[in-house]
Formats: sequence, structure tokens, C-alpha cells
Amino acid sequence: MRNKMFSIVALAAVVFMNSCGNGDTKNENESTEAAPQSMIKDTPKDDGQGIGKFKDVTLTALDSKLAAEGMAIFESKCAACHKTTDQKVVGPGLKGVTTRRQPAWILNMMTNPIEMTQKDPTAKELLAEHLTQMTFQDVSDEQAKQILEYLRQNDADETTAEAKK
Ligand code: HEC
Repeated sequence: MRNKMFSIVALAAVVFMNSCGNGDTKNENESTEAAPQSMIKDTPKDDGQGIGKFKDVTLTALDSKLAAEGMAIFESKCAACHKTTDQKVVGPGLKGVTTRRQPAWILNMMTNPIEMTQKDPTAKELLAEHLTQMTFQDVSDEQAKQILEYLRQNDADETTAEAKK
């Protein structure tokens, strides 16, 4: 009886050690596999939406009343650095911006320009190109949406003008 107990304990110990051993090798495998994954996590794929509170913004039909409000804010807060043509002033000309960037990206750029130019790949490139930091112009989320509407109208005008030619 005693012998039997002993052999069960010994067997259990062997099984336990084996499973430990297996566990260790498994962990090693996992950690080599996990390395590239954690690198992917550090550099997430750019989804083109920028960094900030806006995400997955869907646009509705152009609202000319909102656009008119946006134009007034643009004139007072943005026009010193931006034209609505493709001509650069301090910052890039904003013609066509609504076709080259996603709506959420533009809203994040207006409301979170510093973090954008530090972390978003596209905004980083723009800063490297223009060498001036766009600063937050104290626009509310509501105002940012109005300005976006104005920029959309500005780009729609172009499309209409092109079509008329
Ligand atoms: C002090 C000058 C300045 C002001 C004021 C300013 N910006 Fe900018 N803006 C820049 C610069 C410079 C860049 C390029 C990124 C950088 O260098 O920070 C930029 C980039 C942008 C972009 C990205 C353009 C692209 O080609 O993708 C948008 C959109 C934009 N600004 C919108 C606005 C709006 C809207 C306002 C007003 C609320 C505004 N900016 C106010 C200087 C300014």
C-alpha cells in the first residue's frame, strides 16, 4: 500500500515536471511569436482618421447654412494661414482637402492639431513640409463641423466649376 502511494506521488511528480517543461517551451514559442505582434501594436496601421475625438464621421448632404457659418469662422480663425485655393500661405492651401482627407481627420486636425502633428503620419509630414506648427484656434466641435461644411462646399464648387467647363 505504501509503495503504491509512493509510486502515485512519483508519477504525479513526473507528470507535473513534464507539464512544467512543456509549459516552458510553449511560453518560449509564444514569446518569439509575440514579438512581431507587439511591434505591430506599437505602430498601428494608419486608418486615415487622425488622432482625436472624431472617428467614423459620415457626411450627409451639403448644408449651405452650416457652410455659411463655417465660412465666417474660417475667415476669422484660419484665413491668416490658409487659403481655400491650392496656394500655400503659412499652411497648405485647403482646396481639395475634403477629397484627400477623411472627414474625421480634418475635424481632428482642427480640434487637436498639436497631437496630430506629433503622432499622425500625414500631419507629421505636413509639419515637416511647412515647418510651422498649426495651433489650436479655440474652435468648438460645432464650429469645426461648420468649417468642414464650408471646406466641402469649397471643394464641391470646384467640381461644379470643372463640370461646367
Ligand atoms: C498659425 C497658422 C495656422 C492657423 C491659424 C491655422 N492653421 Fe491649419 N495648418 C497650418 C499649418 C502650418 C499646417 C500644416 C501642419 C503643421 O505644420 O502644423 C496646417 C494644416 C491644416 C490642415 C491639413 C491640410 C492638409 O493638406 O491636409 C487643415 C485641414 C487645417 N490646417 C485647417 C485649419 C483650420 C480649419 C483652421 C482654422 C480653425 C486652421 N487650420 C488654422 C497653419 C495654421
